[in-house]
Amino acid sequence: MRIWVDGGLRDAADATVSVLDHGLTVGDGVFETLKAEHGRAFATGRHLERLARSAAGLGLPEPDLDEVARACAAVLDANPVPLGRLRVTYTGGLSPLGSDRGDAGPTLVVALGPASPRPDTTAAVTVPWTRNEKGALTGLKTTSYGENVVALARAHAAGASEALFANTRGQLCEGTGSNVFVALGGRLLTPPLESGCLAGITRALVVEWAGAEEAELPLDVLAEADEVFLTSSLRDVQAVHRLDDQTLPGAPGPITAKAMRVFAERAAADPNP
Ligand SMILES: Cc1ncc(COP(=O)(O)O)c(C=O)c1O
Repeated sequence: MRIWVDGGLRDAADATVSVLDHGLTVGDGVFETLKAEHGRAFATGRHLERLARSAAGLGLPEPDLDEVARACAAVLDANPVPLGRLRVTYTGGLSPLGSDRGDAGPTLVVALGPASPRPDTTAAVTVPWTRNEKGALTGLKTTSYGENVVALARAHAAGASEALFANTRGQLCEGTGSNVFVALGGRLLTPPLESGCLAGITRALVVEWAGAEEAELPLDVLAEADEVFLTSSLRDVQAVHRLDDQTLPGAPGPITAKAMRVFAERAAADPNP
């Protein structure tokens, strides 16, 4: 595996950053995960835009998006895989050991890992911890993902692949690494960004392509929903067939199946929508 670090490609064993990097010591960094198929990343433009937005929100220097794009292309070329997770990480760089950021400049790493095609349906659980819709990092894709690590472990322990959070107001928010949609009475609904969820790129495309509406939803909408699905760069659209102890029979239901089909068709027609 060849990884981009320090302005060029390195073998994985030599691709290192300092133990004093602020991304490591305090989670001061932002990232993007892109789906890569046969050497081509999906929705690169949107991911780079969000990287810049997240960096601005965290007060990091503006990333050189030409360099990031060049790094992504180099890593994709150097590591041909049929399906992969292309990961861009941009951190505060070499810093003192506290929360103050140093002035050595940011660190950029681009790496690629193999991925497996996701099943069409999956199980999810709800967790008792909340997303803070008013936090300083709300809506930013930062490397401070410890809460997601804990929640995802809870999901795995329950035989599920995703954990869903409410926000502090008890409204449905998002998963550890996905957005959530519900079909209710023939309408397709997803929480608004004000719920504190990440502005998922797959979410935005599904809203546009499948005609979903944003709506504030109580967490217990999940128990009443006719269908539930998750979206993310590596899941695309994935139906939920079990939520906590409740089975959702027939998943993917008709609305989810249509969203899956439309997403697959539109994404195939335009790799950079
Ligand atoms: C917290 C969170 N919400 C939602 C998503 C889905 O976003 P996207 O569709 O851009 O992958 C992610 C992606 O990893 C995420 O980390």
